Amino acid sequence: MKNATKFAHIGRPKIGVGTSVNPPLVRASTLLFDKADDLYNGGHRIYGRHGSVVHDSLSEAFCALENGAGTTLTPCGLSANTLSILANVKTGDHVLITDSTYGPVRHFCNSQLTKFGVEVEYYPPAIGADIKTLIKSNTSCILLESPGSLSLEIQDLPAIVKIAKANNIVTIVDNTWSAGLVYAPLDLGADIAVHAATKFFSGHSDILFGAVVSRTEAMAKNVRLTAAAYGNSTSPDDAYQILRGFRTVVTRFERQEKTAISLATWLQSHGKVARVIHPALPSHPNHDMWKRDFSGSSCLFSIVLQPCTETEVLALLDRLKLFAKGFSFGGFESLIIHCDPQLNRDHDPKFGGPLIRIACGLEDITDLQQDLTQGLEALRLDGEIT
Ligand SMILES: Cc1ncc(COP(=O)(O)O)c(C=O)c1O
Repeated sequence: MKNATKFAHIGRPKIGVGTSVNPPLVRASTLLFDKADDLYNGGHRIYGRHGSVVHDSLSEAFCALENGAGTTLTPCGLSANTLSILANVKTGDHVLITDSTYGPVRHFCNSQLTKFGVEVEYYPPAIGADIKTLIKSNTSCILLESPGSLSLEIQDLPAIVKIAKANNIVTIVDNTWSAGLVYAPLDLGADIAVHAATKFFSGHSDILFGAVVSRTEAMAKNVRLTAAAYGNSTSPDDAYQILRGFRTVVTRFERQEKTAISLATWLQSHGKVARVIHPALPSHPNHDMWKRDFSGSSCLFSIVLQPCTETEVLALLDRLKLFAKGFSFGGFESLIIHCDPQLNRDHDPKFGGPLIRIACGLEDITDLQQDLTQGLEALRLDGEIT
C-alpha cells in the first residue's frame, strides 16, 4: 500500500456505530482504577506519562512509516536524538557522530556525553566504509544524518551499517529531511530512525515533537525503558496534532519537494549563485548515492553565493518578503537562513562563499521565484562594491 493511502487510515478507531473518524483525545495525568488489583497487577497503563490511545495510534503510524518494530514519542526532535544516543551508551564508550549533525545534537554530545565519560568523535560525512579506521573496541554507536544539516551531504549508509554490524555498533539515523517518505534507513539496515516531527508532521510550525523508531522490538524496549527512566513524556494534544499531520503529509511533502527542485534548478544558472547544493541535482557530489538510496528529495536545499560580505548577505535576507528568517523547515511557510554562523565543524567543508539554506513552503512557486529574484538582484558581490 502506498504511503498516502496508509496514512489516511492508520491509527483510526475500528468502525462500529457512530464511530469518530479520529481516535479520542484523552487528557490525563492520573488514571483511576475501580479495583486495587487492577492498579497493581493488571498490566495496564497506570499513569499519564505512559501515554494514551492517541499516543498508541501515533506510534503505530511512525512504525508504519519507517517499517519499525516500536516507537517512542518524545517532546521534540532534539530529545529524540539525545534519547537514541543515551539508550545506547555508557560511561567509557566511544561514539561516532557525523560532523554534519544538527548543531544542538553536537552541543548535547560535547556538553553532556563527555560529562558522563563518553568519548565523542566527529567523522566527515563522506567517510563511507573508511569509518572502520575510526572504530575502537569501545565504540557503541554511530549517529548519521543524511543529508546533513545545512550542507546536505549524503552518507553511504549501507557501507557504514555493514561495518557497524560487524562490530556490534548501533546505527542511528536522523531522518527528518526525508520525513521517512523518500528514505528508509531501517530497510537499509540501520537500527534506529529519528524524526523531528516538528517539521513535516506538524507541518504548521506550531508544535515541537519527536519520534524514535527502532528496527527490532529489543531495541525499541531499550529506548522505551531509557525514556521512562528520564521522565520523557508528551502531551496528548501534541500527539493528536502530529497524527493529524500524518493525514496530509504526503501531499504537502510532494508539493514542497517539487518547489525545491524547481527553484534549485533555476538558481543553478543565476549569476549571483556560485553553487546549488541539492542531492537530486546531478551537480551534487553525492548525487549517485542519493539516486541509489533515496526515492525522492525534500523541501530543503542550500546555495553558495558568489563571494560577498556578511553585511550583503544579511541585507539580502532582509530584502526577501516571502522567505522569512527562521530556523526550521517542513512547515507551510518558506524560510531562509545564513548558515555560516552555525557551521561548527571539525572537518571544514569549505564552501568558498556564504552558505544559505532555503526551506520551501506551500506558497506559489512563481511568487517565491520573484521574491528571490528581487532579493538577489540587489546583492553586491565582492568585486562590485565601490
Ligand atoms: C535534522 C534535525 N534534527 C533534529 C532537529 C530538532 O528538532 P526540534 O526542533 O523538534 O527539537 C532539527 C531542528 O531543526 C533538525 O533540523
